[in-house]
Formats: sequence, structure tokens, C-alpha cells
Amino acid sequence: MSIITDETNFEKSFDINKKNQNIKAETIEFDRNFENSIRPKSFESYIGQSALKETLKITIEAAKKREMPLDHLLFYGPPGLGKTTLAGVIAEQMGVDIKITSAPALERPRDIIGILMSLKGGEILFIDEIHRLNKVAEEILYPAMEDFFLDMTTGKSQTVKTLRVPLPKFTLIGATTKAGELSGPLRDRFGIIHRLEFYTDEELSQVITRTAGLLNIEITKDGALAIARRSRGTPRIANRLIKRVSDYALVKSDGKITENIANKALDTLKIDICGLDSTDRSLLKMIIEKYDGGPVGIETLAAALGEDVRTLEDVCEPFLLQAGLLQRTPRGRKVTPAALRHLGYKNASEQQSLF
Ligand code: ADE
Repeated sequence: MSIITDETNFEKSFDINKKNQNIKAETIEFDRNFENSIRPKSFESYIGQSALKETLKITIEAAKKREMPLDHLLFYGPPGLGKTTLAGVIAEQMGVDIKITSAPALERPRDIIGILMSLKGGEILFIDEIHRLNKVAEEILYPAMEDFFLDMTTGKSQTVKTLRVPLPKFTLIGATTKAGELSGPLRDRFGIIHRLEFYTDEELSQVITRTAGLLNIEITKDGALAIARRSRGTPRIANRLIKRVSDYALVKSDGKITENIANKALDTLKIDICGLDSTDRSLLKMIIEKYDGGPVGIETLAAALGEDVRTLEDVCEPFLLQAGLLQRTPRGRKVTPAALRHLGYKNASEQQSLF
């Protein structure tokens, strides 16, 4: 299997001996490729999402028996839970190539036409952030997904002709953080639609142990669990935190990540025991202190915090909602009593922090 994309290179393998590493240009390259290099390539090494994995294994087995490409798949859920990784695993299991792109890169009709025409039989096309696809691109995709045809027009006004250009049978895997923003007709063309769930602490601690092993980082079971607890149920965050905690362990101790070292490193990074960072805390505190605990509109909050609405909606909110610290109501966002307790307030109206 090979993967064709601008930045992504699942195949790149590496070996790092952390203890003797000097800082050099390769370190920057390593950082860029870090996430891609540690991506699991098989269902066996992909931790978590067990219900989805079982469904996919059966679907893949059946497609192989029929000698047909897989049905089009849509993965949705918060960022960092492994949608792209899973697409790579599927391609590997099917023994086919995968082309990876994202909706904002398919702005002009010729972008989507070009990529569709470059596909070979059985290949997988992965479109990230598929909810951001424009109307024209969507219209081009419909016949391509349904009948494996491109409807092209040539000529002008009176002489306009429609041409049906056949495409090889391919599988589209769409990924989105906002399934609700996908148009009905596009959503209906996916045979399989699945939500990716946040990971449990135990699953995240397995992800952390696996990544630490790949990076030759020594870590205890409790050390892995301490990082897992503050990783917001998200492998991408867990994998980033390992690197930061490993830096701390190397500078302040002997490089080994223990529970104590992990907790100290994460405290230094201002990541609290629930995994909230300073942006999350600012968001909650703003609602409590300036808006009496809410409800308040997301645009107002974004403007007051100087943050992008999309960052708040896609990055901060999913975990705060899941953790029961924030509520979405028709009139805006509200903090919960659990958020008040977590941040040390007696109640929203007193607006008095216990810290
Ligand atoms: N790294 C990132 N996501 C992972 C997963 N689901 N399993 C194993 N390693 C991972």
C-alpha cells in the first residue's frame, strides 16, 4: 500500500535513541512527521474504538470475498480520535492505495475532478473536514459516489453538451467533526456512518505505552495512566503530552516517566487533573465571572476571549460537554455545578473563586 498526500507519510519509520540525541535539523523534521510515524497500521495495533473495528473487519472481509471495493464510509467525532489513522488501517487491510486530502483543498471544480480522475480501481479517497466541501464540489461528488461517473459539460449556452466520464470504482472515506453540517444528500450517499468515541483512561494508557515504546521512552504503568488521565480522552493529545513529559523527565530526572514525574510535568504545563488547559479554564471562567454562569452565545464568548469560534466549538467544547462541565442550551452555553466545583467557585452568582 502506498499513501499519496502532501504532508502525510504513514510509511515513514524511524528509530530514535532519545538518550544520545543532539538537537539538529532532523528534530524539526521529526516533529512534523511525529504523528504520522507513530500511527498504527493494523487493527491489532490500533487501540480503542472496538465496536467500530469489529464492524469494519467484517465489512472489509465481505468486500474482499465479493472482490468489490468497500462501501463509502463516513467517520465523525471530535478531532484527534483517529479518523485519518483508521482510514490508513482500512487501506492497509484492503491492500489498496489511499489518497488523502481535505475539503478546503478542493475549492475549485478542477481540484475535485483532478483527484477523482487520478484514482485507480479500488483505491480509497480520504476527504477530511468533508462538511466544508462547497456546493459545486458536492454536486460533482454525487454521481461519482453513486454510479462512478463524472458528469462534465462542454461548450456554451445553446451548444452545451453533457458528457458522462466513467471513473474506476473507488471508496470515499469522509471525516468530519460536524456531522450535522453535512448536507442530507451527501450524508445519504455513505453506506457506513460511524461516530468515533473518546478513549477511556485505560485505552489511552495503552496508546501512551505503545508510543513510548516506539520512541524508546521508559515509562511506568502509573506514569502512563497519569498522562492518560489528563489527555481528554484523545490519543493525539496523549501522544503530544508524552513528548513534553519526556522532555521534563530528561531534564529534571533520569529520563524515566514515573507517576510523580508525569504529574509534576503536567502541573508545570498548566494541564489540570481533568486535562483542562488554560483556554478551557478561561472559557469556563469567562462564563462564570462575566455572564453569571450563562447562558451566553458562542460568538460573544469567542469575541471576549479573542479566540476563533471554530476553535472553541471543535477543540474545547466537545470534551467540556462530555466531561459534564459545560451545557449547550438553545439560548447559549452554560457552566454546570461540576465546573464551578472543579474551578473552586462556591456558585456562579457569588463569582468568588476559592483559589
Ligand atoms: N496513536 C494514535 N491513535 C492510536 C490508536 N488508536 N491506537 C494506537 N496508537 C495510536
